[in-house]
Amino acid sequence: MAEHAPRIIVRHRDAQAFVGALLEATGVSTENAGIVARALVQADLRGVESHGINRVPSYLARIRNGVLNPKAEPTLTQVTPVVAQVDGNNGFGFPAAHRAMEAATTMAQTFGIGMAAVKHSNHFGMSAWLVRQAINAGMISLVFTNSSPALPAWGAKTKLMGVSPIACGAPGGDRSAPFILDMAPSVAARGKIYQALRRGEKIPRDWALDEHGRRTDDPEEALGGVMLPMGGHKGSALAIMMDVFSGVLSGSAFAGGVTGPYDMSGPGDVGHFIVAIKPDLFMSLDDFRQRMDVLYQRVVGSDKMEGVDRIYFPGEIEQLTEERRLREGIPFVQAEIDALNAEAERLGVAKIGRTVL
Ligand SMILES: NC(=O)c1ccc[n+]([C@@H]2O[C@H](COP(=O)([O-])OP(=O)(O)OC[C@H]3O[C@@H](n4cnc5c(N)ncnc54)[C@H](O)[C@@H]3O)[C@@H](O)[C@H]2O)c1
Repeated sequence: MAEHAPRIIVRHRDAQAFVGALLEATGVSTENAGIVARALVQADLRGVESHGINRVPSYLARIRNGVLNPKAEPTLTQVTPVVAQVDGNNGFGFPAAHRAMEAATTMAQTFGIGMAAVKHSNHFGMSAWLVRQAINAGMISLVFTNSSPALPAWGAKTKLMGVSPIACGAPGGDRSAPFILDMAPSVAARGKIYQALRRGEKIPRDWALDEHGRRTDDPEEALGGVMLPMGGHKGSALAIMMDVFSGVLSGSAFAGGVTGPYDMSGPGDVGHFIVAIKPDLFMSLDDFRQRMDVLYQRVVGSDKMEGVDRIYFPGEIEQLTEERRLREGIPFVQAEIDALNAEAERLGVAKIGRTVL
Protein backbone atom coordinates (compact mmCIF):
# COMPACT_ATOMS: atom_id res chain seq x y z
CA MET A 1 0.00 0.00 0.00
CA ALA A 2 2.06 2.72 1.45
CA GLU A 3 4.82 3.71 -0.93
CA HIS A 4 2.56 6.10 -2.82
CA ALA A 5 -0.19 6.46 -0.25
CA PRO A 6 -1.26 10.10 0.23
CA ARG A 7 0.58 11.90 2.99
CA ILE A 8 -1.08 14.17 5.50
CA ILE A 9 1.22 17.08 6.28
CA VAL A 10 1.32 18.34 9.86
CA ARG A 11 3.27 21.40 11.00
CA HIS A 12 5.69 20.58 13.82
CA ARG A 13 4.17 23.16 16.17
CA ASP A 14 0.70 21.68 15.64
CA ALA A 15 2.09 18.20 16.30
CA GLN A 16 3.76 19.38 19.51
CA ALA A 17 0.66 21.16 20.77
CA PHE A 18 -1.49 18.13 19.91
CA VAL A 19 0.75 15.62 21.71
CA GLY A 20 1.13 17.99 24.67
CA ALA A 21 -2.66 18.30 24.95
CA LEU A 22 -3.16 14.51 24.75
CA LEU A 23 -0.64 13.93 27.52
CA GLU A 24 -1.94 16.71 29.75
CA ALA A 25 -5.42 15.22 29.38
CA THR A 26 -4.08 12.04 31.01
CA GLY A 27 -2.55 13.90 33.97
CA VAL A 28 1.01 14.52 32.73
CA SER A 29 2.30 17.91 34.00
CA THR A 30 2.54 20.70 31.42
CA GLU A 31 6.34 20.71 31.72
CA ASN A 32 6.74 16.94 31.27
CA ALA A 33 4.16 16.83 28.46
CA GLY A 34 6.21 19.51 26.67
CA ILE A 35 9.42 17.48 27.07
CA VAL A 36 7.77 14.33 25.66
CA ALA A 37 6.06 16.21 22.81
CA ARG A 38 9.22 18.05 21.74
CA ALA A 39 11.31 14.86 21.76
CA LEU A 40 8.75 12.87 19.73
CA VAL A 41 8.21 15.66 17.20
CA GLN A 42 11.99 16.09 16.90
CA ALA A 43 12.15 12.43 15.83
CA ASP A 44 9.51 13.07 13.15
CA LEU A 45 11.34 16.21 12.04
CA ARG A 46 14.61 14.28 11.75
CA GLY A 47 12.96 11.55 9.67
CA VAL A 48 13.13 9.00 12.52
CA GLU A 49 9.37 8.42 12.19
CA SER A 50 9.68 5.04 13.91
CA HIS A 51 10.18 6.97 17.17
CA GLY A 52 7.90 9.94 16.57
CA ILE A 53 4.36 10.89 17.62
CA ASN A 54 3.08 7.56 16.31
CA ARG A 55 4.32 6.12 19.56
CA VAL A 56 1.74 8.12 21.54
CA PRO A 57 -1.14 5.57 21.31
CA SER A 58 1.11 2.85 22.78
CA TYR A 59 2.22 5.18 25.60
CA LEU A 60 -1.42 6.10 26.35
CA ALA A 61 -2.31 2.40 26.40
CA ARG A 62 0.38 1.91 29.06
CA ILE A 63 -1.23 4.63 31.16
CA ARG A 64 -4.72 3.10 30.70
CA ASN A 65 -3.35 -0.30 31.72
CA GLY A 66 -1.82 1.17 34.87
CA VAL A 67 1.78 0.22 33.98
CA LEU A 68 3.07 3.80 33.47
CA ASN A 69 2.36 6.59 35.95
CA PRO A 70 1.61 9.81 34.01
CA LYS A 71 1.93 11.94 37.16
CA ALA A 72 5.34 10.63 38.26
CA GLU A 73 8.17 13.12 38.66
CA PRO A 74 11.79 11.95 38.38
CA THR A 75 13.81 12.33 41.58
CA LEU A 76 17.56 13.02 41.61
CA THR A 77 20.18 11.96 44.14
CA GLN A 78 23.63 13.54 43.94
CA VAL A 79 26.09 10.67 44.48
CA THR A 80 29.41 12.54 44.08
CA PRO A 81 30.05 16.04 42.65
CA VAL A 82 30.16 14.51 39.15
CA VAL A 83 27.71 11.61 39.50
CA ALA A 84 23.94 11.65 39.94
CA GLN A 85 21.29 8.95 40.06
CA VAL A 86 17.81 9.65 38.76
CA ASP A 87 14.80 7.52 39.69
CA GLY A 88 12.18 7.76 36.95
CA ASN A 89 9.53 6.50 39.40
CA ASN A 90 7.88 4.68 36.47
CA GLY A 91 6.90 7.90 34.73
CA PHE A 92 7.65 8.74 31.11
CA GLY A 93 11.29 8.04 30.20
CA PHE A 94 11.62 11.41 28.47
CA PRO A 95 11.49 13.70 31.56
CA ALA A 96 13.67 11.28 33.54
CA ALA A 97 16.36 11.25 30.83
CA HIS A 98 15.98 15.01 30.29
CA ARG A 99 16.57 15.60 34.02
CA ALA A 100 19.62 13.30 33.90
CA MET A 101 21.15 15.14 30.93
CA GLU A 102 20.41 18.51 32.55
CA ALA A 103 22.25 17.36 35.70
CA ALA A 104 25.14 15.88 33.66
CA THR A 105 25.68 19.08 31.65
CA THR A 106 25.47 21.25 34.79
CA MET A 107 28.08 19.07 36.53
CA ALA A 108 30.26 19.11 33.41
CA GLN A 109 30.09 22.90 33.28
CA THR A 110 31.85 23.05 36.67
CA PHE A 111 33.91 19.86 36.76
CA GLY A 112 34.49 19.06 33.08
CA ILE A 113 32.43 15.85 33.19
CA GLY A 114 29.07 14.79 34.58
CA MET A 115 27.41 11.38 34.69
CA ALA A 116 23.89 10.32 35.50
CA ALA A 117 22.36 6.87 35.69
CA VAL A 118 18.58 6.53 35.44
CA LYS A 119 16.56 3.66 36.91
CA HIS A 120 12.86 2.69 36.92
CA SER A 121 12.32 4.66 33.72
CA ASN A 122 10.48 3.97 30.48
CA HIS A 123 11.13 4.18 26.73
CA PHE A 124 12.62 7.57 25.77
CA GLY A 125 12.27 7.21 22.00
CA MET A 126 15.04 8.48 19.72
CA SER A 127 18.32 8.94 21.63
CA ALA A 128 19.41 11.82 19.38
CA TRP A 129 17.12 14.31 21.14
CA LEU A 130 19.23 13.87 24.29
CA VAL A 131 22.45 14.28 22.31
CA ARG A 132 20.93 17.48 20.94
CA GLN A 133 20.08 18.64 24.46
CA ALA A 134 23.80 18.25 25.31
CA ILE A 135 24.91 19.99 22.10
CA ASN A 136 22.58 22.89 22.89
CA ALA A 137 24.41 23.16 26.24
CA GLY A 138 27.73 23.10 24.34
CA MET A 139 28.62 19.55 25.47
CA ILE A 140 29.93 16.29 24.07
CA SER A 141 27.77 13.39 25.27
CA LEU A 142 27.24 9.66 25.50
CA VAL A 143 23.65 8.43 25.74
CA PHE A 144 23.00 4.77 26.54
CA THR A 145 19.75 2.95 27.29
CA ASN A 146 18.65 -0.64 27.62
CA SER A 147 15.38 -2.03 26.29
CA SER A 148 13.17 -5.11 26.17
CA PRO A 149 14.41 -8.45 24.74
CA ALA A 150 14.49 -8.46 20.94
CA LEU A 151 17.99 -9.59 20.00
CA PRO A 152 19.72 -12.92 20.66
CA ALA A 153 23.12 -13.18 22.35
CA TRP A 154 25.50 -14.17 19.55
CA GLY A 155 24.95 -17.84 18.73
CA ALA A 156 21.60 -18.04 20.58
CA LYS A 157 18.20 -18.38 18.89
CA THR A 158 15.98 -16.70 21.46
CA LYS A 159 15.81 -13.00 22.27
CA LEU A 160 17.49 -11.71 25.40
CA MET A 161 19.13 -8.32 24.86
CA GLY A 162 17.34 -5.16 23.75
CA VAL A 163 17.80 -3.41 20.45
CA SER A 164 19.29 -0.73 22.68
CA PRO A 165 20.62 2.30 20.83
CA ILE A 166 24.09 3.68 21.45
CA ALA A 167 24.31 7.42 20.93
CA CYS A 168 27.05 9.97 21.10
CA GLY A 169 27.46 13.57 20.00
CA ALA A 170 29.79 16.52 19.78
CA PRO A 171 29.21 20.17 18.82
CA GLY A 172 30.56 21.13 15.42
CA GLY A 173 32.49 24.23 14.36
CA ASP A 174 31.46 27.14 12.12
CA ARG A 175 31.80 25.07 8.96
CA SER A 176 30.54 21.67 10.17
CA ALA A 177 27.39 19.90 11.22
CA PRO A 178 27.44 18.57 14.79
CA PHE A 179 28.48 14.93 15.14
CA ILE A 180 25.42 12.87 16.11
CA LEU A 181 25.72 9.10 16.12
CA ASP A 182 22.50 7.37 17.15
CA MET A 183 22.21 3.74 16.16
CA ALA A 184 20.52 0.57 17.26
CA PRO A 185 22.89 -2.45 17.48
CA SER A 186 20.60 -4.38 15.14
CA VAL A 187 20.61 -4.21 11.35
CA ALA A 188 17.54 -1.94 11.78
CA ALA A 189 15.68 -0.44 14.75
CA ARG A 190 12.68 -2.49 15.92
CA GLY A 191 10.51 0.63 15.67
CA LYS A 192 11.03 0.49 11.90
CA ILE A 193 9.31 -2.92 11.87
CA TYR A 194 6.37 -1.57 13.88
CA GLN A 195 6.23 1.33 11.43
CA ALA A 196 6.18 -1.05 8.44
CA LEU A 197 3.36 -2.99 10.14
CA ARG A 198 1.37 0.22 10.67
CA ARG A 199 1.96 1.29 7.08
CA GLY A 200 1.29 -2.13 5.51
CA GLU A 201 4.83 -2.32 4.11
CA LYS A 202 7.31 -5.21 3.72
CA ILE A 203 10.72 -5.10 5.41
CA PRO A 204 14.13 -5.98 3.93
CA ARG A 205 14.94 -9.69 4.43
CA ASP A 206 18.16 -9.04 6.37
CA TRP A 207 16.45 -7.29 9.31
CA ALA A 208 14.93 -10.18 11.28
CA LEU A 209 14.18 -13.89 11.58
CA ASP A 210 10.70 -15.34 12.16
CA GLU A 211 9.94 -17.60 15.13
CA HIS A 212 11.36 -20.58 13.21
CA GLY A 213 14.69 -18.84 12.64
CA ARG A 214 13.98 -18.07 8.95
CA ARG A 215 14.61 -14.72 7.25
CA THR A 216 11.36 -12.84 6.64
CA ASP A 217 10.08 -9.69 4.92
CA ASP A 218 6.80 -9.78 6.89
CA PRO A 219 6.84 -7.30 9.82
CA GLU A 220 4.35 -9.36 11.86
CA GLU A 221 6.45 -12.52 11.51
CA ALA A 222 9.57 -10.51 12.33
CA LEU A 223 8.03 -9.19 15.55
CA GLY A 224 7.31 -12.80 16.58
CA GLY A 225 10.94 -13.73 15.96
CA VAL A 226 14.28 -12.03 16.63
CA MET A 227 16.07 -8.97 15.28
CA LEU A 228 19.41 -9.62 13.62
CA PRO A 229 22.36 -7.85 15.26
CA MET A 230 24.44 -5.58 13.04
CA GLY A 231 27.89 -6.99 12.33
CA GLY A 232 27.00 -10.36 13.90
CA HIS A 233 28.76 -10.84 17.25
CA LYS A 234 29.76 -7.12 17.36
CA GLY A 235 26.15 -5.86 17.45
CA SER A 236 25.31 -8.43 20.08
CA ALA A 237 28.27 -7.25 22.21
CA LEU A 238 27.18 -3.60 21.89
CA ALA A 239 23.68 -4.55 23.10
CA ILE A 240 25.24 -6.23 26.14
CA MET A 241 27.36 -3.10 26.73
CA MET A 242 24.16 -0.99 26.84
CA ASP A 243 22.81 -3.38 29.48
CA VAL A 244 26.01 -3.24 31.61
CA PHE A 245 25.75 0.56 31.94
CA SER A 246 22.01 1.16 31.74
CA GLY A 247 20.76 -1.93 33.57
CA VAL A 248 23.37 -3.58 35.81
CA LEU A 249 25.12 -0.36 36.90
CA SER A 250 22.06 1.93 37.14
CA GLY A 251 19.98 -0.33 39.39
CA SER A 252 17.25 -0.83 36.79
CA ALA A 253 16.09 -4.08 35.17
CA PHE A 254 18.71 -5.98 33.15
CA ALA A 255 19.49 -9.36 31.54
CA GLY A 256 16.17 -9.54 29.70
CA GLY A 257 14.13 -8.01 32.55
CA VAL A 258 12.96 -4.81 30.81
CA THR A 259 9.30 -4.77 29.72
CA GLY A 260 8.77 -3.42 26.20
CA PRO A 261 6.67 -0.34 25.36
CA TYR A 262 4.02 -2.49 23.63
CA ASP A 263 3.86 -5.06 26.47
CA MET A 264 1.18 -4.10 29.00
CA SER A 265 2.14 -6.78 31.55
CA GLY A 266 4.09 -4.46 33.87
CA PRO A 267 6.26 -1.34 34.33
CA GLY A 268 9.09 -0.94 31.83
CA ASP A 269 11.88 -0.57 34.43
CA VAL A 270 14.14 0.75 31.67
CA GLY A 271 17.57 2.12 32.61
CA HIS A 272 19.65 4.84 30.95
CA PHE A 273 23.22 6.06 31.36
CA ILE A 274 24.26 9.55 30.36
CA VAL A 275 27.64 11.30 30.27
CA ALA A 276 28.33 14.97 29.41
CA ILE A 277 31.86 16.20 28.69
CA LYS A 278 33.04 19.80 28.26
CA PRO A 279 34.77 20.13 24.88
CA ASP A 280 37.44 22.59 26.10
CA LEU A 281 39.04 20.29 28.67
CA PHE A 282 42.30 19.85 26.79
CA MET A 283 42.42 22.95 24.55
CA SER A 284 40.47 26.16 23.96
CA LEU A 285 36.90 25.90 22.69
CA ASP A 286 37.98 27.65 19.48
CA ASP A 287 40.65 25.02 18.87
CA PHE A 288 38.16 22.21 19.47
CA ARG A 289 35.64 23.74 17.07
CA GLN A 290 38.29 24.27 14.40
CA ARG A 291 39.44 20.66 14.76
CA MET A 292 35.81 19.50 14.35
CA ASP A 293 35.67 21.60 11.16
CA VAL A 294 38.80 19.83 9.86
CA LEU A 295 37.38 16.39 10.73
CA TYR A 296 34.05 17.22 9.08
CA GLN A 297 35.67 18.58 5.91
CA ARG A 298 38.00 15.58 5.65
CA VAL A 299 35.07 13.14 6.09
CA VAL A 300 32.58 14.72 3.71
CA GLY A 301 35.35 15.65 1.25
CA SER A 302 36.58 12.03 0.91
CA ASP A 303 36.80 10.56 -2.58
CA LYS A 304 33.41 9.02 -3.29
CA MET A 305 32.84 5.38 -4.15
CA GLU A 306 30.98 4.55 -7.35
CA GLY A 307 27.30 5.49 -7.25
CA VAL A 308 27.60 7.86 -4.25
CA ASP A 309 26.63 11.52 -4.82
CA ARG A 310 27.49 12.93 -1.44
CA ILE A 311 29.21 11.84 1.77
CA TYR A 312 27.49 12.80 5.02
CA PHE A 313 28.68 13.27 8.59
CA PRO A 314 26.78 11.13 11.16
CA GLY A 315 23.55 12.97 11.99
CA GLU A 316 23.73 15.22 8.95
CA ILE A 317 21.07 13.47 6.85
CA GLU A 318 18.67 13.80 9.77
CA GLN A 319 19.62 17.47 10.24
CA LEU A 320 18.89 18.21 6.57
CA THR A 321 15.54 16.40 6.87
CA GLU A 322 14.77 18.47 9.95
CA GLU A 323 15.54 21.74 8.17
CA ARG A 324 13.22 20.74 5.30
CA ARG A 325 10.40 19.51 7.53
CA LEU A 326 10.57 22.65 9.68
CA ARG A 327 9.72 24.54 6.50
CA GLU A 328 7.38 22.07 4.80
CA GLY A 329 5.77 20.12 7.64
CA ILE A 330 5.88 16.42 8.59
CA PRO A 331 4.25 13.76 6.35
CA PHE A 332 2.07 11.02 7.90
CA VAL A 333 -0.15 8.34 6.37
CA GLN A 334 -3.90 8.38 7.06
CA ALA A 335 -3.80 5.30 9.31
CA GLU A 336 -1.31 7.05 11.61
CA ILE A 337 -3.43 10.21 11.79
CA ASP A 338 -6.54 8.08 12.43
CA ALA A 339 -4.87 6.28 15.35
CA LEU A 340 -3.84 9.62 16.89
CA ASN A 341 -7.26 11.18 16.35
CA ALA A 342 -8.93 8.17 17.95
CA GLU A 343 -6.95 9.05 21.10
CA ALA A 344 -7.95 12.70 20.71
CA GLU A 345 -11.61 11.69 20.60
CA ARG A 346 -11.23 9.46 23.64
CA LEU A 347 -9.58 12.28 25.61
CA GLY A 348 -11.70 15.18 24.30
CA VAL A 349 -8.77 16.92 22.57
CA ALA A 350 -8.92 18.77 19.20
CA LYS A 351 -7.86 16.54 16.25
CA ILE A 352 -4.94 17.02 13.83
CA GLY A 353 -4.31 16.46 10.14
CA ARG A 354 -5.87 18.57 7.41
CA THR A 355 -3.47 19.03 4.51
CA VAL A 356 -3.44 16.02 2.17
CA LEU A 357 -0.69 15.84 -0.46
N1 LIG B 1 14.74 3.92 22.95
C1 LIG B 1 14.88 2.72 22.44
O1 LIG B 1 14.69 1.72 23.13
C2 LIG B 1 15.27 2.55 21.00
C3 LIG B 1 15.52 1.27 20.51
C4 LIG B 1 15.95 1.13 19.20
C5 LIG B 1 16.13 2.23 18.39
N2 LIG B 1 15.87 3.48 18.87
C6 LIG B 1 16.05 4.65 18.00
O2 LIG B 1 15.82 4.28 16.66
C7 LIG B 1 16.47 5.19 15.81
C8 LIG B 1 16.96 4.53 14.54
O3 LIG B 1 18.10 3.71 14.77
P1 LIG B 1 18.88 3.06 13.55
O4 LIG B 1 19.96 2.22 14.06
O5 LIG B 1 17.90 2.44 12.63
O6 LIG B 1 19.50 4.36 12.84
P2 LIG B 1 20.08 4.55 11.37
O7 LIG B 1 20.66 3.28 10.87
O8 LIG B 1 19.06 5.23 10.54
O9 LIG B 1 21.28 5.59 11.63
C9 LIG B 1 22.38 5.24 12.45
C10 LIG B 1 23.43 6.34 12.44
O10 LIG B 1 24.06 6.38 11.17
C11 LIG B 1 24.04 7.68 10.63
N3 LIG B 1 23.86 7.56 9.19
C12 LIG B 1 22.82 7.01 8.53
N4 LIG B 1 23.03 7.04 7.21
C13 LIG B 1 24.25 7.64 7.03
C14 LIG B 1 25.02 7.98 5.88
N5 LIG B 1 24.60 7.71 4.64
N6 LIG B 1 26.21 8.59 6.09
C15 LIG B 1 26.65 8.88 7.32
N7 LIG B 1 25.96 8.58 8.45
C16 LIG B 1 24.77 7.96 8.29
C17 LIG B 1 22.85 8.36 11.27
O11 LIG B 1 23.05 9.78 11.31
C18 LIG B 1 22.87 7.75 12.66
O12 LIG B 1 23.74 8.45 13.51
C19 LIG B 1 17.52 5.88 16.67
O13 LIG B 1 17.12 7.22 16.85
C20 LIG B 1 17.46 5.15 18.00
O14 LIG B 1 17.72 5.98 19.12
C21 LIG B 1 15.44 3.66 20.14
